[in-house]
Amino acid sequence: MILTICVNAAVDKTLIIEDFQAGTERRVRDVALVVPGGKGVNVARTIHTLGEPVRLLGFAGGAAGAFIRQGLAQEDIPADLVTVPGESRTCLAIMDPAHGTETIINEVGPTVPAEARVGFFTLFDQAIVGVDVVTLSGSLLPGLPDTFYAALIERAAARGVPCILDTSGPALQAGLAARPFAVKPNRAEAAALTGVAIHDARSALSAARQLLDGIRMALVTLGRDGVVLATHAGAWHAQPPAVQVVNTVGSGDSFTAGFAVVLARGGPPLEALRLGTACAVANALRQGAGQARREDMDALLARVHIRAL
Ligand SMILES: Nc1ncnc2c1ncn2[C@@H]1O[C@H](COP(=O)(O)OP(=O)(O)OP(=O)(O)O)[C@@H](O)[C@H]1O
Ligand SMILES: [Mg+2]
Repeated sequence: MILTICVNAAVDKTLIIEDFQAGTERRVRDVALVVPGGKGVNVARTIHTLGEPVRLLGFAGGAAGAFIRQGLAQEDIPADLVTVPGESRTCLAIMDPAHGTETIINEVGPTVPAEARVGFFTLFDQAIVGVDVVTLSGSLLPGLPDTFYAALIERAAARGVPCILDTSGPALQAGLAARPFAVKPNRAEAAALTGVAIHDARSALSAARQLLDGIRMALVTLGRDGVVLATHAGAWHAQPPAVQVVNTVGSGDSFTAGFAVVLARGGPPLEALRLGTACAVANALRQGAGQARREDMDALLARVHIRAL
């Protein structure tokens, strides 16, 4: 059982607009996708697709919050979202096939009052019982301290439950101080955190090694260049196959999902690296974030090339 934290759940809307130009008016007849989103939701959906039991915890508010709750229920993803005043955010992705661009507009999200924060900790302490792995993904909401993930990592550690942390900026920095089991920044996040200029697997490895202090596994994802895994026993690079990419938003989240599923099942790190990469590439084959399909994941597994560094 995996507990997936999605602080900043969203209504994810994807529009496909040929030749998108700022400063012009366009009529869009077909909305490609309107679904519950946010990084933790993407992770939970991919875990669910893999057939592993998952439960989502987070916050939600307003009509957007009701949409998110209903959508998750329809998808059979169990979710407990603490109610906050105001509206959950909407995230807009504009895909332009003519230019091959993805334009992303993310709202910040509602402010979490102190009572809701306390309510969340109570919920977390109840939900953590019997859990194999916790994933912590995405940005925090206004009203939550930078140490929010750190506090959850400590509470999980007190129960012996490993956490995978995937966030950025001060929340990542503060979260690392609580020594999660694993951390998964992307290239830009790892570079900002360590000061290492990352241009290939080697430089990603130096960044990953810096992150290993008190942490068991450091993963740096590198978009089409795959991912580097560093542990205290060794380091590896997973190269995804070249594919026709439709969308890369949420590929990092899908990676985290596949990685977490193997850990939750007690599998070895290299198997986690392989399934994570297959899920990440499967996400890139479909429109929308976290919409990877099982048949794509299965077909991609054998096409992931792993080598020791
Ligand atoms: N163009 C691509 N071709 C093949 N695989 C890709 C491509 N882009 C991403 N991937 C796969 O997805 C993984 C994660 O990608 P990336 O480093 O972009 O994550 P991210 O920035 O954290 O994404 P997000 O936060 O939107 O989920 C990569 O390690 C790789 O396996
Ligand atoms: Mg990411």
